[in-house]
Amino acid sequence: MIERTFVAIKPDAVKRKLSGKIIQRFEDKGFEIVELRMLLLDDELLEQYYGEHKGKDFYNDLISFMKSGRIIAMVVEGNDAVKNVRTMVGATKPWEASMGTIRGDYGLSTPHNVIHASDSLESAKREINLFFKD
Ligand code: PPS
Repeated sequence: MIERTFVAIKPDAVKRKLSGKIIQRFEDKGFEIVELRMLLLDDELLEQYYGEHKGKDFYNDLISFMKSGRIIAMVVEGNDAVKNVRTMVGATKPWEASMGTIRGDYGLSTPHNVIHASDSLESAKREINLFFKD
């Protein structure tokens, strides 16, 4: 089934100039990048984006990290995109992510885990609307 999912290349990966390689991996796999923008996140957007995690012990670290530099927001389209993109991204904690996944290959610690991808079709719709409402 052809789906759209939301992907964000996080500030650590943008600073390390990994964006090109990461985008290439999605294209090599057969996905299409149908929307893309680079932006600096503000508190209002971050609150909407990560609001469900407010109160967790990592929340403040996560928010300051996500404000520390520009991100690249993308909409990725293709077969079973939500599930397949999450498989390519790998486990949240990079040291637990398998080699061959994006976090397994490029990440070492949290919150610097390189990339975000929607975890369900509902989250994908919500996040795409948040970042590409115009
Ligand atoms: S939870 O508690 O299971 O719902 O959390 P999880 O879904 O694994 O992660 C939610 C987002 O928080 C990020 N995260 C962290 N950031 C900083 N420090 C720590 N320890 C940490 N653990 C999780 C995680 O990367 C998720 O953000 P996204 O943008 O989806 O990667």
